[in-house]
Amino acid sequence: MTAEPTSYTLDSLSERLNGLSNIDALRTLAELFPGEVIFSTSLGYEDQVITDMILANDIPIKIFTLDTGRMFSETYSVWKKTNDRYATTIETYFPKADAVEKLMTEKGPYSFYDSVENRKECCGIRKVEPLNRALKGNKIWITGIRADQSANRQAMTQLEWDESHQLFKFHPLMDWTFEQVTQYVKDHHVPYNPLHDRGFVSIGCQPCTRAIQPGEDFRAGRWWWEDNSKKECGLHTHEEVFKA
Ligand code: ADX
Ligand code: SF4
Repeated sequence: MTAEPTSYTLDSLSERLNGLSNIDALRTLAELFPGEVIFSTSLGYEDQVITDMILANDIPIKIFTLDTGRMFSETYSVWKKTNDRYATTIETYFPKADAVEKLMTEKGPYSFYDSVENRKECCGIRKVEPLNRALKGNKIWITGIRADQSANRQAMTQLEWDESHQLFKFHPLMDWTFEQVTQYVKDHHVPYNPLHDRGFVSIGCQPCTRAIQPGEDFRAGRWWWEDNSKKECGLHTHEEVFKA
């Protein structure tokens, strides 16, 4: 048997994962990078599938969520159900209290509706800075991104090098359809956010998410008052929304 290399390039790691099932790919990553693989969950449909793949198969990958402080109560419910179902505790990152206090004092609780700049400021404080803390010291970041969620995401590949965080990003469900996701949830009796049954496909913070109408774009319910091209919160863009 040939020894595993001690470091990987994007090409050599892609090659190593090539042809593996999602579960085998996740397990392989956990073996190749022990203690350095982390999965970010928003507790939405796709992320619940990945949580099930990890926890039902005892794969040693850390799982965390960014609690922005503005989430739906339904999101907290599915979080609790997930902890109970898998006898786990999802690690939580919260925004810095002083930054939130300053933002709310100076601009009030709904500044994000006033301008893209304000919205990015809020996402920077509530999501991006905590994300940077969560990712520190890890080599692989797993996400629930799928290509058909947006034009932006169609240009992404299942394994990527993230220059700004200096790690590999792996999106196991990149080529999955929405139907495959819902079927997995059904087949494996995975707990899911009840808002998905009420027209919410992509769920983020409560004031910035609404249900979509039949035929509307998958991400039409996120930051619906903004121009389509600006609809990323900084978690998955390389733009510097907030410097830690
Ligand atoms: S976002 O960038 O628009 O907010 P989206 O909701 O589509 O992202 O989710 C894409 C992926 O980003 C999720 O599969 C998850 O890995 C990560 N993510 C989004 N929101 C959170 C959150 N609050 N906590 C942890 N991870 C998140
Ligand atoms: Fe703030 Fe809305 Fe971004 Fe949540 S999605 S962090 S409430 S601007």
